[in-house]
Amino acid sequence: MKGIILAGGSGSRLRPLTGPLSKQLLPVYDKPMVYYPLSVLMLAGIRDVLVISSAQHTGMFRALLGDGSRLGLTIDYAEQNSPNGIAEAFLIGADHIGDDDVALILGDNVFHGPGFSHLLQSAVSALDGCTLFGYPVTDPQRYGVGEVDAGGRLVSIEEKPRRPRSNLAITGLYLYDSEVVSIAKNITPSARGELEITDVNNAYLERDRARLTRLGRGFAWLDMGTHESLLQAGQYVQVLEQRQGERIACVEEVALRMGFITPEQCYRLGLAMAGSGYGDYVLDVAARHLASAAR
Ligand code: DAU
Repeated sequence: MKGIILAGGSGSRLRPLTGPLSKQLLPVYDKPMVYYPLSVLMLAGIRDVLVISSAQHTGMFRALLGDGSRLGLTIDYAEQNSPNGIAEAFLIGADHIGDDDVALILGDNVFHGPGFSHLLQSAVSALDGCTLFGYPVTDPQRYGVGEVDAGGRLVSIEEKPRRPRSNLAITGLYLYDSEVVSIAKNITPSARGELEITDVNNAYLERDRARLTRLGRGFAWLDMGTHESLLQAGQYVQVLEQRQGERIACVEEVALRMGFITPEQCYRLGLAMAGSGYGDYVLDVAARHLASAAR
């Protein structure tokens, strides 16, 4: 399966933080925002990733992530000229997807919870058409909203409905088979002039090929479009990391755990950041792996 991180948009609600800076490179406590969606793709077992951003910001993403090889990944970059809709990612990324399945994740989404990597990997291996992830929220009218019947089957999806039929927001993580490219090519832009992801999802639903996986209690899904939500996400990460001593979305640690890099490679990545709390954590993770391998 291929991965796409959509990290475009103007970040207008975060001005003046954005402007010269990409929203998805802003700090979320101890790391850039894009580390969070990148770690989700990696936990799903994905090693081939396309980062889509505005032309103005591509160089900054490249400076941060490079070609991905230090994490055992292949990372490519593409540009979205203007925010023409989330589903445009499949047109921009058509060559990257080829005949493969694809996971699209929005660059401003944080997912965190027990058993998430297992849930992701099961969803990837069971994929048949399209898998969406639903999350109960108190303000569903701000999101794509999924309605499920008594048996848990997805029956409708509406984008930002005034009267939501459920409290289940469709999160910014989407799994599709390769047909998504031709589906995206055939949808018409909305009144806002955007290729809407909800129209792609509805096309799968009409073919009876869309499933919804519920992310339940104890799970955190956060998106970071405003100053408040950006700060809240940072505070969430800080509280958990300081309490437990384990970092969320530490991409070096994820690469090590997934077997994408060796403990020695991880150690060298930590050394390059030594002196920062984050770098010292990477060193510690690598050292523990080296010690347990020596036992
Ligand atoms: O966060 C989940 C929600 O994301 C879903 O529930 C909705 O169904 C989906 O439409 C989307 O809603 P948003 O209101 O959050 O969409 P927004 O236009 O804010 O875009 C989400 C992110 O994607 C944002 O960080 C900017 C980026 N983006 C957006 C568009 C439209 C792009 O990179 N390119 C684009 O063309």
